[in-house]
Amino acid sequence: MPTRATTLQVNGRDMTFEIDPRVTLLDALREHAGLTGTKKGCDQGQCGACTLLVDGRRVLACLTLAVQAEGSEVTSIEGLAGDDGGIHPMQAAFIEHDAFQCGYCTPGQILSGVACIREGHAGTDDEIREFMSGNICRCGAYPNIVAAVRACAGRPGTEAAR
Ligand code: FES
Ligand code: FES
Repeated sequence: MPTRATTLQVNGRDMTFEIDPRVTLLDALREHAGLTGTKKGCDQGQCGACTLLVDGRRVLACLTLAVQAEGSEVTSIEGLAGDDGGIHPMQAAFIEHDAFQCGYCTPGQILSGVACIREGHAGTDDEIREFMSGNICRCGAYPNIVAAVRACAGRPGTEAAR
C-alpha cells in the first residue's frame, strides 16, 4: 500500500507523517508522533481509552483515520496543560478526588470530562454518568470520576482546551 504525506495539527503543532492512509489517528499519535498518553484499550470503539478532542469534540481515535483529521485541531492529554506548564483544572480535580487507580483509562476520562462540561452535560451526577458512559474504567473508579467532573464544572479554565 502506498504511503501518503499526512499533516496533523496536534496540541498546536503541525506534524507531518509519511503513512499508509489506513493508519488510525490513534496509531499515528502513538507510533509516529511518540505521543503515548492516548491509550489503546479495545481498538474497536468500545472502551473510550483512546478519546481525543478534534476541533473540541470527543472522538474515538481508534475509529478515526489519521487522514480524516487533516485540517482539524487535535488535542491529546499531552496538550491539555496550560502554556505555563501547569496542569489543567480537570487534571487537578482527578488528583483531588482520587479518580483513578491503574490510570489506563484516565487520559480518555479527562478529555471526555472536559468535553462533557463544554457540551453542557455536567448538571447532575446522573447526567455526568450518562454522558461519560462511553469511557469504561476497569478499576471501577466511577464514583470518584463523577465527583471530579462535578467539582470541575464551573471551575475557571475548565472548558479551555486547544
Ligand atoms: S481503544 Fe478506542 S474505544 Fe477502546
Ligand atoms: S483507573 Fe484503571 S481502568 Fe480506570
